[in-house]
Amino acid sequence: MIVFCVFCVVLGIGSFVRTSENQQTWMMLRNGLKTYQSRVYQKLSRTYKTSGIPELTQERHNVKRGNYAVLTDKDVGFFESVVGSNHTIKEKDELQSYNVDFLRSVRGNSQLVLKPGSVDEVSTILKYCNDNKIAVCPQGGNTGLVGGSVPVCDEIVLSLQRLNKVLSIDEVTGIAVCESGCILDNLEQQAKEVGLVVPIDLGAKQSCHVGGNLSTNAGGLRVLRYGNLHGSCLGVEAVLANGEVLDLMSGFKKDNTGYHLKHLFIGSEGTLGIITKLALLCPPAPKAVHVAFLGISSFDDVLKTFVSAKRHLGEILSSCEMLDANSLAASLEHFDTKSPVDGYPFYMLIETSGSNEAHDAEKFNTFLEIGMESGEICDGTITSDPGKVKEIWSLRERVPLALINDGYCFKYDISLPLRRFYEIVEVLEKRVGKMSLRVCGYGHLGDSNLHLNVSCKEYSNELYKAIEPFVFEYTSQLKGSVSAEHGIGFLKTKYLGFSKPQNAINMMKSIKQLLDPNGILNPYKVLQ
Ligand code: FAD
Ligand code: MLT
Ligand code: ZN
Repeated sequence: MIVFCVFCVVLGIGSFVRTSENQQTWMMLRNGLKTYQSRVYQKLSRTYKTSGIPELTQERHNVKRGNYAVLTDKDVGFFESVVGSNHTIKEKDELQSYNVDFLRSVRGNSQLVLKPGSVDEVSTILKYCNDNKIAVCPQGGNTGLVGGSVPVCDEIVLSLQRLNKVLSIDEVTGIAVCESGCILDNLEQQAKEVGLVVPIDLGAKQSCHVGGNLSTNAGGLRVLRYGNLHGSCLGVEAVLANGEVLDLMSGFKKDNTGYHLKHLFIGSEGTLGIITKLALLCPPAPKAVHVAFLGISSFDDVLKTFVSAKRHLGEILSSCEMLDANSLAASLEHFDTKSPVDGYPFYMLIETSGSNEAHDAEKFNTFLEIGMESGEICDGTITSDPGKVKEIWSLRERVPLALINDGYCFKYDISLPLRRFYEIVEVLEKRVGKMSLRVCGYGHLGDSNLHLNVSCKEYSNELYKAIEPFVFEYTSQLKGSVSAEHGIGFLKTKYLGFSKPQNAINMMKSIKQLLDPNGILNPYKVLQ
């Protein structure tokens, strides 16, 4: 007999525990969750001291510098005349945070950062760079996880951070137009004011730019519900390598006038052009959000619970995330918190977003009842209180930050067939043994996207060699993707061929050659 459900959902928070394995009796604990510090929601920032910064990428990965011009005082003078010397960075200490990525896995040696304040300035800079064969690394919020956002050698950094305005949000059409350097969370806040929601959400939202999201085709926590940015982005404005401005802005979902060139800029990681403006289709903000955090005793039951969630939650299911015990442990240890559900090998975070509180609660209850009766769900907590929803999400969203805090983290972001989704975590754990601190798997189960992470105290070449190319070979054998959402960047260029046939890579190279014949845009990235 199930007694907790409608009650706890309607009250906003409830923890249900199985009091006896044999009896199907569930008890609601009204004291619920402790208040966790939502540190993950603060702006991501890393301090760059000389200790702990990675060695130069060029040295660690033995990169031969491309045949690009070496920056001269005359070039710097020209750039300063375009953006102003106050929007130019040349000092070594200040350059550091633009040269090192968030993971501290790569370090470039750029001597110049430019912060243009308009599309015309971006265009003038690129035209000059193209004419003079100066390499450029476009940079958004620098939260990318594949070494794409920082220079590899001495490319100049073109930061979009001053192009940060929200230009319009239309309540009727749901279309938000903003400059590419707009911080995702700022767009989210403004969309909320008119009852809309930005169709992308991720743990880096307080730092990443919407242009950076588009350039990586970032996935995040709600792809299951809203799809990826190829669908939500209605238009872009991009500056090509030669400085030409390509206006592909559109206010319509339907526009079949020839090739959809905007898609070339979505996910091309700054190698084909610099996005300066974009239009996103924003759905109405949900009126009712429920989140459950569940303890599950086997991966088989994780899959069964996912299938059941799709069947019983249907159109209101908005997220289905999974964490293993090592992932949750990292989050709890580094943020010194407790989980409302503990002691299981797997956890699932399931979210619904709908328009009718009572209807959604009823559906969630049915789903939970069935899961508990069958024994597929062992334990859990559910809430619709906005503060507590955030607390539960932070258990999941903190995992990447926690793993980085272990010291160093090798990150893999792969798509795998669901039936064989988790086995690679166990195989890798055995393979690397004591060389690592933690091997763990978490991620967007609802999108077949596993985040496989190996943390250690500090970067180790021996560990690196034990993981790569093994992980990519394994993924390829399962016909998975070597990058589900983070992109290829610099760190995965060698492995693109594990997920794409040679003729597709050749076609990519031809497109690159057409749009950027001098190869000045983000060299050493995506294509080798
Ligand atoms: P950057 O890191 O600055 O750049 C990323 C790439 O895009 C680089 O190749 C850069 O050259 C290029 N680029 C940036 N701006 C432009 C532009 N305007 N025009 C052309 N090229 C440009 N990713 C996911 O997909 N899903 C997640 O759930 C997710 N969660 C994350 C959580 C954390 C804590 C962190 C640190 C990162 C996470 N990421 C996630 C990774 C990252 O891809 C996203 O944070 C984001 O999309 C990168 O945006 P950014 O503005 O920081 O771009
Ligand atoms: C996430 O889903 O948390 C991000 O993609 C970051 C990560 O892979 O760690
Ligand atoms: Zn992710």
